[in-house]
Amino acid sequence: MEPSSIHVRPGRHDDASELARLCTELGYPSTAAQVRERLVRLSDVEHGLFVAEDGGGLRGVVDVHVRVVLEEDPFAELIALVVSEDGRGEGVGSALVAEAVRWARRRRVRKLWVRVSLWREATPRFYERLGFRRVKQQNVYELAL
Ligand SMILES: CC(C)(COP(=O)(O)OP(=O)(O)OC[C@H]1O[C@@H](n2cnc3c(N)ncnc32)[C@H](O)[C@@H]1OP(=O)(O)O)[C@@H](O)C(=O)NCCC(=O)NCCS
Repeated sequence: MEPSSIHVRPGRHDDASELARLCTELGYPSTAAQVRERLVRLSDVEHGLFVAEDGGGLRGVVDVHVRVVLEEDPFAELIALVVSEDGRGEGVGSALVAEAVRWARRRRVRKLWVRVSLWREATPRFYERLGFRRVKQQNVYELAL
């Protein structure tokens, strides 16, 4: 249930500076200019961007994508979810995930996926409370280009 003072709405280009703050809180230091450029590129991708705001500004964001891959039917994935540290534990994250779930259901995909870094110790409990179940663990490799 969305807390009464919080309003969830689609994210907009003019949210860029607050989105940069939230991306930085998530662990991805970002400037408003970078986020603005990413939002332009994201318009090529099937995704839903939703923000939670109250009178004081943005409290959280979720970005949900449809992943189209060769080896299985299209599915949805939560790419970014973060709530400002001083507003956690009040239902904002749950309200954002509920919006992402509605968005994904409208796209008729059959599952919603999320990858959680192992060091985020408190986060699995959040997803498990919402009905997600752990299906695999894996390592991520990177090649600098
Ligand atoms: C995970 C996160 C989005 C949840 O948002 P939220 O608004 O705090 O969540 P809700 O209030 O809807 O749900 C609260 C539940 O979330 C979990 N939780 C995880 N981290 C928490 C935190 N730092 N503070 C409070 N609750 C947290 C708890 O299980 C809590 O349930 P409980 O009160 O029964 O213990 C938010 O804590 C956050 O931004 N964490 C850091 C970034 C992150 O892990 N993002 C997900 C990446 S995959």
